[in-house]
Amino acid sequence: GAGNRARLLAANRAAEEFFLEQLGTPEAEVGRRFLGERGFDAEAARHFGVGFAPKSWETLTKHLRGKGFTTEELAASGLVSQGDRGVYDRFRGRLIWPIRDVTGQTVGFGARKLLEDDPGPKYLNTPETAVYHKAQVLYGLDLAKREISKTHRVVVVEGYTDVMACHLAGVTTAIATCGTAFGVDHIKVLRRVLGDDSGVGEVVFTFDGDAAGQKAAMRAFAEERRFAAQTFVAVAPDGLDPCDLRLARGDGAVRSLVETKTPMFEFVIRTTLARFDLETVEGRVAALRAAAPIVAEIRDPALRPGYTRELARMLGMELEEVGRAVRAAG
Ligand code: CTP
Ligand code: MN
Ligand code: MN
Ligand code: MN
Ligand code: MN
Repeated sequence: GAGNRARLLAANRAAEEFFLEQLGTPEAEVGRRFLGERGFDAEAARHFGVGFAPKSWETLTKHLRGKGFTTEELAASGLVSQGDRGVYDRFRGRLIWPIRDVTGQTVGFGARKLLEDDPGPKYLNTPETAVYHKAQVLYGLDLAKREISKTHRVVVVEGYTDVMACHLAGVTTAIATCGTAFGVDHIKVLRRVLGDDSGVGEVVFTFDGDAAGQKAAMRAFAEERRFAAQTFVAVAPDGLDPCDLRLARGDGAVRSLVETKTPMFEFVIRTTLARFDLETVEGRVAALRAAAPIVAEIRDPALRPGYTRELARMLGMELEEVGRAVRAAG
């Protein structure tokens, strides 16, 4: 019920304060060093509310019990895990990013391990709760929403550190999904911020310059038809992500990354063609077969002929032949 929701938000608020305090302890030195090595000073960490969870099974659990939260409330909040012998802290020995909804309320946390040998995945997030829905939540939206609604632009990156790097570099429309692919529910949330009616609004996906990043872009493309916005892709060079890029080449490189964007369709067509050997007839025919359905997907009747011509040019094939393949795939 509603009372339950309010209690979960209160538990999150109390946990966030606890994690913030813990970042100042001697044990958190490893966390402060991680932030420093990523180019984040104390002020930057503070701006994003980054905290630290000590390597302990019960410090947070005890702290929250002391504040009057029941075992049921703690379990429902996702801050603790349920074991055979009771509940224990979910996040241990990790840097903590509070994940806030569009109104700025903390609905969950993202937690990164700090030592390679530590157990568990690199990132651990709050599980699904009454207030945390990973399919809908967009990290950084509370900070970015004003600029997004003002400029009708949004930059979607992969990680928490990438959102931080972008904002610090001046790209204050940056947001990220939280451990999941960008999907239709995220689009609904964004639409509310961008303004439903206009159908304008520019989305730039800035994925990691690695294979996983490209796959994520391809998945997002599958959702793109439902998003009445102009969609672009920007991929950082040399397998870097925006956080790496800022460290290696500075704020200006992050800003120019999102400016040197490729239209989504062009990106997807290029990525598809790259799988084939275009030097051979067989390769070109196979590439046409793979790319024609993508061009056929383009619903904008003003854009489809242009992309058909572009595909013919990239393949070095007759326009007529490519046009036929696109129509057959439609
Ligand atoms: N992620 C996750 N679980 C993992 C790995 C990644 O939920 N085991 C999510 C996190 O939200 C992460 C994002 O996917 O921020 C991007 O993953 P990755 O590029 O691997 O992480 P980075 O944020 O770049 O982390 P780092 O630079 O510290 O390696
Ligand atoms: Mn809900
Ligand atoms: Mn990656
Ligand atoms: Mn990174
Ligand atoms: Mn990354």
